[in-house]
Amino acid sequence: MTIFYEKAMEDDILGPFFIDEIGDDIKSEDWVEHIELLADFWLAKILGEDTYYGNFVGAHVKMPHIKKESFARWLELFSQTADEVYIGSVAEQFKKKGVQFSKQFLNRTKNI
Ligand code: HEM
Repeated sequence: MTIFYEKAMEDDILGPFFIDEIGDDIKSEDWVEHIELLADFWLAKILGEDTYYGNFVGAHVKMPHIKKESFARWLELFSQTADEVYIGSVAEQFKKKGVQFSKQFLNRTKNI
């Protein structure tokens, strides 16, 4: 998770969204909380654990300026990170879910 967010924060397209909402210090309390929340999210989605019941699409509604291209970039960085961190079959599982979730977002975002 941390590797992904380090890339995202340095990215021209994604960086500003995260910096505006969570700040520019990845070691801050807000960031640690965000990364833990996302780790719980992925545990729930990949392993079916009881760790996340939030509304993750809803959490992005307050950022209507996230556009189709931003999701394409998100997916690119996410897939790159999955390949770096995990062996083949596990990386594939993350990438498949990443594609699924990005599509869900795109379907629900009106202004694209
Ligand atoms: C351009 C793409 C994206 C951007 C810029 C983005 C940005 C953000 C930001 C800034 C937050 C924090 C909101 C807050 O704390 O108030 C957040 C929360 C979150 N994001 Fe994203 N996100 C993107 C795509 C995705 C995708 C594709 C997924 C799912 C695979 C995802 C999953 C989540 C989850 C689970 C949370 C936590 C929601 C909660 O509070 O329960 N995000 N995102």
